[in-house]
Amino acid sequence: MKITVVGAGAVGATCADNIARAQICDELVLLDIKEGIAEGKAMDMMQTATLFGYDSRITGSTNDYSKTSGSAVAVITSGIPRKPGMTREELIGINAGIVKTVTQNILQYSPDAIIVVISNPMDTMTYLALKSSGLPKNRIIGMGGILDSSRFKYYLSKAIGCTSTDLQGVVIGGHGDTTMIPMARLATYQGVPVANYLTAEVLKKVVADTMVGGATLTGLLGTSAWYAPGAAGAALVEAIVRDEKKHFPCCVYLEGEYGHSDICIGVPVIIGRDGWEKIIDYKLTAEEKTVFDKSAGAVRSMNEVLSTLAV
Ligand code: 2OP
Repeated sequence: MKITVVGAGAVGATCADNIARAQICDELVLLDIKEGIAEGKAMDMMQTATLFGYDSRITGSTNDYSKTSGSAVAVITSGIPRKPGMTREELIGINAGIVKTVTQNILQYSPDAIIVVISNPMDTMTYLALKSSGLPKNRIIGMGGILDSSRFKYYLSKAIGCTSTDLQGVVIGGHGDTTMIPMARLATYQGVPVANYLTAEVLKKVVADTMVGGATLTGLLGTSAWYAPGAAGAALVEAIVRDEKKHFPCCVYLEGEYGHSDICIGVPVIIGRDGWEKIIDYKLTAEEKTVFDKSAGAVRSMNEVLSTLAV
């Protein structure tokens, strides 16, 4: 089994590192357009193999897609990251061209690959990858909701004073500061609604903090975060490769589900060897549906920008 990660920046390299440690493939290719960076990071990671006890072989490639040939899964992290004060949406002009080219290059050598999209603005980049490739919808998956859900559980755990692994919490909608929807009603602490432990005011703050979770880190780091985005990408790849049938919120193409069509946006799905296999219906309340519609409207407006770009 071969897996490719395109983009050897912080997110791509972290994602590759996590994939290697998960022991889910014999070959992992890290590719970047910048001379030597992927080869260097691949070699550095390979020198951790005996320390972590893994046998995956990691190779780097400077933009030579023939080395990615026959990949079962390809992760796209390419593009520029956010700077403090920037929204993910402001990256569209540069990243759209990159994501389209990368998608074509991957499919030239790995026509059966499942494609995981991490590049921002992620919902629109997922839509672009799908539309420009013509791939079956189940084979293109945007990662954002897994990351946002992990951040949601982090903020919930701090508010409750518990370990985040005892929590269930899901974020749907767009992967944007104003479009993501942490599902507070469905979040539980070992099966008990979190509202039993938190006041409405605290829960509201948890939701607000989650929504700007990425921006908070960008402010602290001076660039986009990478540990959690890389780990979330790797978790998605692992669920595909191991055919886990995992329930994850991911950005996928809707054809009427959640009342929307011709859009890629975060909804709960089951992930397995064929990519995303089905969409779970959370049966949103009228109020939640209104918020989801608003989120979808914002994502749709961003998708419309694609037609104004020369991609
Ligand atoms: C984030 O939210 C990079 O979009 C990613 O940190």
